[in-house]
Amino acid sequence: MRYLARLLNLPLKNGHLGPLTREVLRTSYNSSLQVYLPNTRHQHYESKSQENELSKYLKARIRATGPITVAEYMKTVLTHPSAGYYMHRDVFGVEGDFITAPEISQLFGELLGVWCVNEWIQCGKPPKIQVVEFGPGRGTLAYDLLRVFSQFPAMRDAVSLHLVEVSNKMSEMQYQKLVGHTLFQECNNNSFMANAVVKEPESYNHCISKFNIPVNWYHKVEDVPQEFSCFIAHEFFDALPIHKFQKTEQGWCEVFIDIDDNPASINDFKFTLSKSLTPALVCFNIDKNDPREHIEVSLESGAIIERISHRITENGGFALITDYGHQGEKTDTLRGFHKHTVLDNVLSEPGSSDLTADVDFKYLSKMAGDKVNVFGPISQAEFLNNMGIAIRLQVLLQKVQKQQRKDLISGYKMLTEATQMGQRYKFLSFMQKKKESEYKPAGFVNLNI
Ligand SMILES: C[S@@+](CC[C@H](N)C(=O)[O-])C[C@H]1O[C@@H](n2cnc3c(N)ncnc32)[C@H](O)[C@@H]1O
Repeated sequence: MRYLARLLNLPLKNGHLGPLTREVLRTSYNSSLQVYLPNTRHQHYESKSQENELSKYLKARIRATGPITVAEYMKTVLTHPSAGYYMHRDVFGVEGDFITAPEISQLFGELLGVWCVNEWIQCGKPPKIQVVEFGPGRGTLAYDLLRVFSQFPAMRDAVSLHLVEVSNKMSEMQYQKLVGHTLFQECNNNSFMANAVVKEPESYNHCISKFNIPVNWYHKVEDVPQEFSCFIAHEFFDALPIHKFQKTEQGWCEVFIDIDDNPASINDFKFTLSKSLTPALVCFNIDKNDPREHIEVSLESGAIIERISHRITENGGFALITDYGHQGEKTDTLRGFHKHTVLDNVLSEPGSSDLTADVDFKYLSKMAGDKVNVFGPISQAEFLNNMGIAIRLQVLLQKVQKQQRKDLISGYKMLTEATQMGQRYKFLSFMQKKKESEYKPAGFVNLNI
């Protein structure tokens, strides 16, 4: 933690507060177990909505092959190449649908950057380290991480950034944030060819960032080179598809999505139950002692966690997963957001609103397996306090004017207060097993700083 002192030298970045986070908004949605038919309290439409491109596509698919799983629906709605929610627009901030921690305050990204540097040092400073970020959004966290790395010459010389991003639109925004101009401008000023030297074989884009650190983009983690790595995922797993299971008198069924053909209904789609065992039910194999009557599981998240864990075991490294979530006790958390409002009907406006579900950290820990050491989950407040967020705040406050002071303090409160993001957001880490088995990563130990 002595590296915190070095943060004193980091230049100030404007912190700003925007609208509400997805998790804070969650408090207003109805998590009743009974709600499997879309809620008819829909405020936006009085008749069936005008069909958008995704509705047409989903209906055609359901007509052709029958009802689809919630996971198939969610994946299509969020990442369909031509009409998926994340694929064509900036969904963040005041103009978008929600805001995330790195966008709220620079304090967040700086402390995660210090965490990466500290754990790399604890691993004996391997000569190369890949920082692999999943779902980087606008690139704000990546930018703050690189800003911190650039303050530590040994880290700056060892590190490369690898972004796993499914959306070309988002990757363009990340490119602009990290380089300072668009790819088009770069082609025009000839620096594009110079950057070609940093390209990894499987990446779909690459650059040298303004911090002189190479960056590569991939559609999936399998494409990232197999090297010593620090894996970071912030509000990524909540965007991955979930399967929903419902306990009935006949046993467990999977929840599917079908077309709502009822002319009296204002909805295009409705939930329905599987009539027989499904591949996801077989694969997940529900614990017969689980007291819940409704369960959500993201098999895709489990597969990614298994892969990260395998890579850490084989190539060395560590991971930090941060998201809103629970320890396997929650039931019905799937919800949609549009313009900072929770949708009354989660199946309305496919493609034009965000879909998200709470992350099951118990399941992720289980999928990490016992070849790595798993730490947490602990609350965001605990992690950030252990990392010395109050010290960093004090340092920044000495350098700023009145408005920035107000923004920094409100950002700090939003990140750490229990009624805001402090308790609901969790941090989970896993690491290659070390010889000294007592070792705990920074942020997971209270150093009383
Ligand atoms: C909720 S945003 C989080 C953004 C960012 N981490 C933050 O906290 O501001 C989810 C991000 O994951 C990306 N994404 C969604 N599904 C993905 C997938 N299957 N593979 C890779 N990226 C994905 C989205 O395009 C977006 O960048």
